[in-house]
Amino acid sequence: MAEGWPLPPALVVLLLSMSAWVTDSCPAACSCPKGQDEVHIMDCNKKKLSAAPLDAPDGITQVTLNHNQLTLFPFLGNVSSNITSLLLVHNRISELLMHQLQPYVSLETLDLTSNSISELRVGSFPSMQLKYLNLSNNRISLLEPGCFENISSSLLVLRLNRNRLVALPSKVFKLPNLQLLEMKRNKIKIVDSLTFKGLESLKSLKMQRNGITKLMDGAFFGLNNIEELELEHNNLTEVNKVWLYGLRMLRILQISHNAIGIIRPDAWEFCQKLEEL
Ligand SMILES: *[C@@H]1O[C@H](CO)[C@@H](O)[C@H](O)[C@H]1NC(C)=O
Ligand SMILES: *[C@@H]1O[C@H](CO)[C@@H](O)[C@H](O)[C@H]1NC(C)=O
Ligand SMILES: *[C@@H]1O[C@H](CO)[C@@H](O)[C@H](O)[C@H]1NC(C)=O
Ligand SMILES: *[C@@H]1O[C@H](CO)[C@@H](O)[C@H](O)[C@H]1NC(C)=O
Ligand SMILES: *[C@@H]1O[C@H](CO)[C@@H](O)[C@H](O)[C@H]1NC(C)=O
Repeated sequence: MAEGWPLPPALVVLLLSMSAWVTDSCPAACSCPKGQDEVHIMDCNKKKLSAAPLDAPDGITQVTLNHNQLTLFPFLGNVSSNITSLLLVHNRISELLMHQLQPYVSLETLDLTSNSISELRVGSFPSMQLKYLNLSNNRISLLEPGCFENISSSLLVLRLNRNRLVALPSKVFKLPNLQLLEMKRNKIKIVDSLTFKGLESLKSLKMQRNGITKLMDGAFFGLNNIEELELEHNNLTEVNKVWLYGLRMLRILQISHNAIGIIRPDAWEFCQKLEEL
C-alpha cells in the first residue's frame, strides 16, 4: 500500500470521523450556515439519517432534521439545552417520552409533522417553554387529559391536522395562552359540551373535514376571545344559539359544505360581532 501522500482511503475516513469529535466543526452530514445575530443553524435535511449527529457544534440554536429516517426523538449532546427550534418533519418517530425531551429546556418551536406518533399521554412533555407545536399528519388517536399540562402556560400554537382523533376528552385543552388550535381532517363526529373550556385566549379554531354531525350544548363555551371558527366540510345540520353559546367575540364563522337545513332565528344572539359568514 502507498506510503505518505495521497492518503489511503481508510485513513481519510478515520480523519473525517475524528474531526467529528471537535465540537466547533459541523458534522459531516450537515451544514452549519451562520445565521443573523445569535441564530446558528445546523441543517441536516434529507440525509437518510437514522440517528441524529451527536456532535452538534457549540453555539447552535436551531436544528433541522427534516426528511430523514429517525425513529427516536433525537439527542444532540451538549447543545440540546440551547436549542430554540427543532424541526423533525417527515421522520419515523413513534413516541414522545419525557426523558427524551428533557434536555431541551430552551425549546420554543417543535415541528413533528409527518411522523408516526399515535398517542399523547401524561408524561410526554417535561416542564418546558414550548410555544409552537406541530403534530400534524401523525397517527394520534388519543389525547390523555393532562398530556399538555407541562407546556400549558407557554403554548401559543398547536396543530393536530390529519390525525386520527375521534373524540376529544373534556378538559384536555387547558391551555390558557393558546391562540391557534387546528384539528382539520380528523374523525371527530361529536363535540361535547365544554370541550374547549380552558382556552380563554384562543383566537382561531379550525376543524374542517372531520365529518362532525353534532355540536352539543355549549360545545364552544369558554372560548371567550375566539374570533374565527372554521367548520367547513362537516355534516352539521343546524345553526342555533345552543352551540354558539357565549361566542361574543366571534367575527368569522365558516360553515359552508355542511348539511345545514335549519338556522334558528335567535341563533346569533351571542354573536353580535359577526362580520363574515
Ligand atoms: C449555550 O449558550 C450559552 C449562552 O449563549 C453559551 O455560553 C454556551 O457556550 C452554549 N453552549 C453550547 C454547548 O452551545
Ligand atoms: C459536554 O459538556 C461536558 C461538561 O461541560 C464536557 O465535559 C464534555 O466534554 C462536553 N462534551 C462535548 C462533546 O463537548
Ligand atoms: C411534568 O414534568 C416533570 C418533570 O419536568 C415531571 O416530573 C412531571 O411528571 C410532568 N407532569 C406531567 C403532568 O406530565
Ligand atoms: C407546523 O406549524 C408551524 C407553526 O406552528 C408552521 O410554521 C410550520 O410550517 C408547520 N409545519 C409544516 C410542515 O407545515
Ligand atoms: C354526512 O352524513 C351522511 C348521512 O349520515 C353520510 O352519508 C355522509 O357520508 C356524511 N358526510 C360526511 C362528510 O361525513
